[in-house]
Amino acid sequence: MTNATTINMTPDPALAVKAECRNFNFHYGDFHALKNINMPVFDKQVTSLIGPSGCGKSTLLRSFNRMHDLYPGNRYQGEIVMHPDNTDILAKEVDPIEVRMRISMVFQKPNPFPKTVFENVAYSLRVRGMTNRSEIEDRVQQSLKGAALWDEVKNRLNDLGANLSGGQQQRLCIARALASDPEIILFDEPTSALDPIATASIEELVVELRDKVTILIVTHNMQQAARISDFTAYMYLGELVEFGITDQVFIKPMNKQTEDYITGRFG
Ligand SMILES: Nc1ncnc2c1ncn2[C@@H]1O[C@H](COP(=O)(O)OP(=O)(O)OP(=O)(O)O)[C@@H](O)[C@H]1O
Ligand SMILES: [Mg+2]
Repeated sequence: MTNATTINMTPDPALAVKAECRNFNFHYGDFHALKNINMPVFDKQVTSLIGPSGCGKSTLLRSFNRMHDLYPGNRYQGEIVMHPDNTDILAKEVDPIEVRMRISMVFQKPNPFPKTVFENVAYSLRVRGMTNRSEIEDRVQQSLKGAALWDEVKNRLNDLGANLSGGQQQRLCIARALASDPEIILFDEPTSALDPIATASIEELVVELRDKVTILIVTHNMQQAARISDFTAYMYLGELVEFGITDQVFIKPMNKQTEDYITGRFG
């Protein structure tokens, strides 16, 4: 099965590619969920994945940190290559834990560990083998600052993470994702469980984080994709239909299917 993705941009040599899917397919047992995806993820840019429910957005996102490894019967085919080292993160010899250090994930519902605010962030540092107390404290503080949460929690570091508001919990999860100093952060509908004010603060944060880290975000909210992403990938039935510069994809989609979805003619 072959499919051609419409590319809605002119090649830009100023953009470095941080990661790319090459002829990437994914199967849940007999179900062919992702079909021959070829897609760049540009360095220090925000790329959003959009498309109707069930089109494979989460499946693609989760492939980037080998989350499907946990279930037997799941099968990756093709490559997801990280640059500049050219590592195929799906290769059998590549340790999924190593991949998750380089590519961390923030989920739809804030899911802090049943631990204190401090330990929620320190945990991934300890997993990484960091033992020096003051080094850990520094990194926790940096990560909480990076997630725009420090000022609100600096006097509550020993409170349970679950006692924070929903928006604060989501920023705590972002701080946790930042702690391992990842190259890419994956977000799967990170604001769909939040109110408009908390949503705005997460959106603002994503845009700020782009200076430091490459971001791949799944969103159902097309205004959100238009507001915060530099590149947009439109998926349908496991295929990547169109990929390009967000403004172009939204204002001048090149593929009829993309246009129908974006203009709301598609349910
Ligand atoms: N564990 C699984 N086993 C079998 N099929 C699955 C599994 N998880 C997802 N699927 C199927 O794979 C397809 C893609 O699902 P996925 O969750 O990636 O879609 P999505 O685009 O993220 O949808 P949504 O917008 O509703 O979150 C769907 O048809 C779904 O039913
Ligand atoms: Mg999903």
